[in-house]
This record gives sequence, C-alpha cells and structure tokens, in this order.
Amino acid sequence: MLDHLTVVKHPLVQHKLTIMRDKETSTAGFRQLLREISLLLAYEVTRELDMTEKTIETPMQPMQAPTLDGKKLALISILRAGNGLMDGILELIPSARVGFVGLYRDEETLEPVEYYFKVPEDLGDRLVIAVDPMLATGNSSVAAIDKLKEAGAKNIRFLCLLAAPEGVKRMKEAHPDVPIVTAAVDEKLNEHGYIVPGLGDAGDRMFGTK
Ligand code: URA
Repeated sequence: MLDHLTVVKHPLVQHKLTIMRDKETSTAGFRQLLREISLLLAYEVTRELDMTEKTIETPMQPMQAPTLDGKKLALISILRAGNGLMDGILELIPSARVGFVGLYRDEETLEPVEYYFKVPEDLGDRLVIAVDPMLATGNSSVAAIDKLKEAGAKNIRFLCLLAAPEGVKRMKEAHPDVPIVTAAVDEKLNEHGYIVPGLGDAGDRMFGTK
C-alpha cells in the first residue's frame, strides 16, 4: 500500500522541476520537461501493482516470468493541464485505457465546474490513476475523484507535479483512500489560489496561452 503522500525526491525529478519553475523556461522547454518528469513520476505511482507469473520461453529455456496482473489500468486526465502529464505516462504504459474529466476553476469562487466526463468502462475493476499537475486548493481534484468514485472506481491514485499543503489536507479529508504522488509540496496558496513559490499556471505554461 502506498502512503497517503509520496514526495519523489529523486535528483532528476528535482532538477527538472527547478527548470520548470524558472519563469525564463520556454513553452517548448516546459513541455519537454513535463514529458520527461512524467515518466519518472509514473515509475513511482505504479509501484506495487498486482503481479502474476506466466510461462515464456527465452532462447535458452522455458521460465516462469513476472507480468502485470488484472485489467489494463485507467489513466484519467483532469483537463486541461492533466494532458501534459498523461502524454509521457502513456509512453511508459501504452496499453492503459484513457479517460478525461473536464473541470475549470471559477476564478471568483475557486470552485470546480464540470464540463466534460468520459471514462473507460469497468472502472471498478481497474487501477485508476488520476493526473493533474497542480494540487492547489484541492477543490477540483476532490470533485474529479468524487466523479470517478460515482462512476465505480474503487482503487484510485492521484499523480501531480506540485502540491500545496492546503490541497493535500483537503484530499486527505475527502479521500483518505487515495494515495498522492508528487514531486514537491510547496509553501502555501496565495490569495488567488495559486501555489507559491509554484511555477505559475501549468496549463498556460505548457500550452503557451499567456
Ligand atoms: N493551477 C495552476 O496551474 N497553478 C497553480 O499554482 C494553481 C492551480
């Protein structure tokens, strides 16, 4: 069982995150680093997957070899910034099923508003990994996980790049059964609900919309 919070301290993760935080890093650079870092985070979030064995034949002899057990896992992107994390993970787990939860944050209330929901069938039989680079207030993450549970998901993990202590606390209260994997927990949220020191708006930085 993963802990409720795992902070991935691997030097490569921390080095890449520092470059991503730097406001001088270009959109292209940010996107490339996000893809690279997502592979390293995916390695952590897929720890302790169920395994089984199957018989194969190497060029030398037959053997019982370990292989993943159960149905393909479901990777759920919390739009839009989740897509940046998801692309890299799909390179590592190309057979994953993919879903999308569309939420935007009302800038005044900071509450999540849903505009899209499309997820694989049989969510209850799969490990579900929800991805969103920024766990800020936790409002949209909690709402997304609520929706995934309503759709039948029972075994969920949450992967983000950066978290605020407020978001971690909110997730722990609302969904204590959902382990969080992140590269860092920053100092706090500012009055606009942004993580500080943070990296700014992850969607804008990866898509160049500002
Ligand atoms: N979403 C972002 O993209 N950045 C933050 O700091 C908080 C929420």
